[in-house]
Amino acid sequence: MKRILILNGPNLNLLGTRQPEVYGTTTLKDIEAMCAKKAAALEIEVECRQSNHEGVLIDWIHAARGTFDGIIINAGAYTHTSIAIMDAVTSVEIPTLELHLSDIHAREEFRHTSYIGKVAFDAIMGHGAAGYPMAINRMIKELEAK
Ligand code: DQA
Repeated sequence: MKRILILNGPNLNLLGTRQPEVYGTTTLKDIEAMCAKKAAALEIEVECRQSNHEGVLIDWIHAARGTFDGIIINAGAYTHTSIAIMDAVTSVEIPTLELHLSDIHAREEFRHTSYIGKVAFDAIMGHGAAGYPMAINRMIKELEAK
């Protein structure tokens, strides 16, 4: 059975109340339930984790080696700053998909740079909470093509 790790970075624990005009009103708990439902339908395992701390996200990426077949990551603002998370993804050699609720390329210029995008096999963005089950589908397609 395929196992996918879904990582959410800083401030994503506030989804639902955080800038709903940008990120929607769906909470992280709702998103996790959407992911669990998708996983059940596809007969795969999905584990969702969220941290506001860069090092914690890096530790989880390291520990995913040998445990998870793929990583879906919404690194929040670390997307635009963290060479360390980018290096962690490269180091573990696990297929990684970049995910965002908003379309980072349609927003402020500082969000246009993505370090995760440099090492991820693809990116899903601009679909709000619906992007999460879409990302699971995309990951399964990638893993099945291997
Ligand atoms: C985000 C986009 C980032 O620029 C921002 O810092 C976030 C959320 C998104 O999901 O749209 O925290 O990753």
